[in-house]
Amino acid sequence: MRDCHREITRWMQSLGAQVRIDAAGNLRGIYPADRPNAPRLLIGSHLDTVPNAGAYDGVLGVVLAVTLLEELRGRRLPFGIEVVGFSEEEGVRFGAPFIGSRALVGRLDQELLDVQDARGVSVRKSMEDFGLNAAEIPQAELENDALGYLEFHIEQGPVLEKLKQPLGAVEAIAGQSRLEFTFFGRANHAGTTPMHLRHDAIACAAEWIGVVERLAQGVAGLVATVGKIEAKPGAVNVIAGEVRLTLDVRHSSDEIRTRAVKDLIHEAHVVAARRGLTVGETTLLDQKAVAMDPFLAREIERAIVKAGCKPHRMVSGAGHDAMILAEKVPAAMIFLRTPGGISHDPAESVAAEDVEKAIACGLHLLDQLAASPEFLKRMNRA
Ligand code: HGY
Ligand code: MN
Ligand code: MN
Repeated sequence: MRDCHREITRWMQSLGAQVRIDAAGNLRGIYPADRPNAPRLLIGSHLDTVPNAGAYDGVLGVVLAVTLLEELRGRRLPFGIEVVGFSEEEGVRFGAPFIGSRALVGRLDQELLDVQDARGVSVRKSMEDFGLNAAEIPQAELENDALGYLEFHIEQGPVLEKLKQPLGAVEAIAGQSRLEFTFFGRANHAGTTPMHLRHDAIACAAEWIGVVERLAQGVAGLVATVGKIEAKPGAVNVIAGEVRLTLDVRHSSDEIRTRAVKDLIHEAHVVAARRGLTVGETTLLDQKAVAMDPFLAREIERAIVKAGCKPHRMVSGAGHDAMILAEKVPAAMIFLRTPGGISHDPAESVAAEDVEKAIACGLHLLDQLAASPEFLKRMNRA
């Protein structure tokens, strides 16, 4: 992250931007307006990623934002541009995502700072180890002069590729639930314990994981994933006494998502009880679906057309910092086509000509906003 900060800071300073790292570890670079004390448009994405990831999820959005500044070639707009590189969006280390962007909307609270990683290191401690001061987190919060937030991001799915379109305008981001389940069975000898006397935590978890898959297959638009599973004691000749696993459930309707989570928790208890085990669950995240700002989404569609592409409105199945920023400022996203729909894997890619289209779209968008009475009215309200 330090190397990333150094590179992007160097690049932004060469464009005349003031760059700082805020108390939540977010990179914040401000490219000034053509007038003093002008409100700012935020453009950014996250700089962290997942294990064994591709090279574009998150960071492409930050690099695209800096490229737009470069393409302005010194031109100033009636609003400032703040490039944000969020420190922690994926939630891999601590289970809770959006740590960086929650600081900008004032929700990086004590409870989240106390969450610990697998080695017992808290969010607060990890920030201090990075040289940050948690006491200054309130200063990372956006004042009321942010005009909006734009995020360029790879689609991470198959839709734009199927439509043969380089760019998409996101109209909503699906809600997501993240939970951790622990199945408590009875460790025992794999050779001496008859099958009917077992309380096998792996066999129990496996039966329930099948229930998860079948339930999600039966509900249109619902996705449910068990992405991480750990068994104890984890020996070839020992029946597992305990299994800890994660569940990720998403849908554009909060009602359908929360219903599915409730049903899956119930089913976990049914399967465990029938097998003589117990099960406990902790909710790590219950993030509502979020609509993008209609005005900005319309302007994005206009800019996509000006870039010579056919606009396509779509819902994002992946979560994004835009869903957090939307709590405080009008937020919108531009998707870039993902070849093969592959993401969260080294095979993740993006076509150079699609990136060029995104830059053209971004420049049209900035010109449209600079000339938009509706947007400039927001400036006066800011
Ligand atoms: O998991 C997600 O939705 C995204 O990659 N943060
Ligand atoms: Mn991701
Ligand atoms: Mn992402």
